[in-house]
Amino acid sequence: MTDLKILGISGSLRTGSLNTALLRAAQKYAPSGLEISIYEGLEGLPLYNGDLDTEETLPAQVRELREQINAADGLLIATPEYNYSIPGGLKNLIDWASRPAATSSLLHKPVAIMGAAPGNFGTVRAQLALRQVFVWTHSDLVVKPEVMVFKAAERFDEGGNLTDEDTVTLLQGLLDSLKTKAEHPAG
Ligand code: FNR
Repeated sequence: MTDLKILGISGSLRTGSLNTALLRAAQKYAPSGLEISIYEGLEGLPLYNGDLDTEETLPAQVRELREQINAADGLLIATPEYNYSIPGGLKNLIDWASRPAATSSLLHKPVAIMGAAPGNFGTVRAQLALRQVFVWTHSDLVVKPEVMVFKAAERFDEGGNLTDEDTVTLLQGLLDSLKTKAEHPAG
């Protein structure tokens, strides 16, 4: 049987991003049968504009995004929290991916969410906001475990490797849940 394909999306563009590092850890600790690639196009996406959202005018980067999501068996999102909510770039990606609503790439798509922040409430509010978004898109959200990596800077070494064993265990639990959903997609 071929591996299930998961598209990882980081909500941060920073080179030293804790969230991108968390996605890399997910690649390392993925269960057998689950292959995680990381989406590279966030920075190149134009702002959502309904006038461009037609077959004739769709930006190539958006077409590529939708194709990558359609081809994936599930999504793994690692989000920072910006001002108690979803970073604008990630929200913009979701807005493009969510159209047209009736046939969108996010419809029934298995989605797992996680997030890392240096502070004490690592991404709690951003993840709640994301969960709300994925209700409208009718995605198949992994409910538990919740992976909120607080005090995240202490859990990675200087090379961006996840060194905290509890976080590894939590991450593996999320990946197992995502794998189960990807194996049995709703529809
Ligand atoms: C932040 N940060 C932040 N942290 C938090 O816990 N709650 C918040 O509301 C915010 N707000 C916020 C807004 C903006 C514009 C920035 C740039 C940052 C801090 C944030 O958690 C920290 O920079 C993380 O390290 C960002 O994630 P990456 O880039 O390391 O993945």
